[in-house]
Amino acid sequence: MAHSSLKLTRRPRRLRTTEAMRALVRETRLSPDMFVLPLFVCEGEGVRREIGSMPGVFNLSVDEAVKEAAAAKADGVSSVLLFGLPEHKDDVGSAAYDPEAPVQSAIRAIKREVPGTLVVTDVCLCEYTDHGHCGLLIDGAIANDPTVGQLARAALSHAAAGADIVAPSDMMDGRVGAIREALDEGGFNNVAIMSYAAKYCSAFYGPFRDAAGSTPQFGDRRSHQMDPANVEEALREVALDIEEGADIIMVKPALAYLDVIAKVKDAFGYPTAAYHVSGEYAMLKAAARNGWIDEPRAMMETLTSIRRAGAEIIITYYAREAARALA
Ligand code: PBG
Repeated sequence: MAHSSLKLTRRPRRLRTTEAMRALVRETRLSPDMFVLPLFVCEGEGVRREIGSMPGVFNLSVDEAVKEAAAAKADGVSSVLLFGLPEHKDDVGSAAYDPEAPVQSAIRAIKREVPGTLVVTDVCLCEYTDHGHCGLLIDGAIANDPTVGQLARAALSHAAAGADIVAPSDMMDGRVGAIREALDEGGFNNVAIMSYAAKYCSAFYGPFRDAAGSTPQFGDRRSHQMDPANVEEALREVALDIEEGADIIMVKPALAYLDVIAKVKDAFGYPTAAYHVSGEYAMLKAAARNGWIDEPRAMMETLTSIRRAGAEIIITYYAREAARALA
């Protein structure tokens, strides 16, 4: 059969003919050293309790968190983000700055037993208050300024335990500046701040709240987390956090906010992190368990899109799986 050929100067398909060719012209690459693995640290010993809505993610006692950090390191992931699940909760979230609480203990243990691990800590009160809100309540509303003082105390206690980076996720006004000042006064001017600068009030945090037991007892987080409809506001939030001393800025969640990541990266040219959150992870896991998607491909496509949007740091529960896939 005779072939008829169009006279085409440009044939984009030429560059898609083989895997070697596609790899040669690939614009976006992932590497395990851009991943940060979140860990949920609880009290006790030998505890490794899987979270129902997050298959493959566990509540871990300090000894188990050390094992997980070591396993992550072996997979090529050297950064972890610690969340605490204290048994004691009160109305001011005092376990957030207790030097013997799970996070502070885990920082010391991981630093001692898994050298070379970069330890990031989440700074917020929601896991530590009995009412589940991110701050102190006065007349039923979150009081910004007294909360900031508590957050600075928490961040300082993380630094004292050996944290490399503190990551305030509370969205109170002025917290980055207050934390920077507290760290500097405490002699921790080398501890960096990764601020959850543009953190949206998202339905995709649902599974996290199961994992951390941090669902608010009443109301919601709309008075401090951002309205999903806004993007100019994200640029203002990021500008403020940079002014106050943030070293790394974060957009969260990731997938529904790729445009925000791209704009923030463009506007500021700053180290930018994106948090691929619990609900985004849970959706992929659920679809994969039903046989509805090819999980390894969907995982890599998702993480690639976050990188392509402009984030060079990706916080994801898939960190270890993705690192192994890249090996
Ligand atoms: C604490 C915090 C939350 C997440 C990270 N830090 C929950 C929230 O704001 O309700 C969510 C992370 C995830 O969903 O994976 N404030």
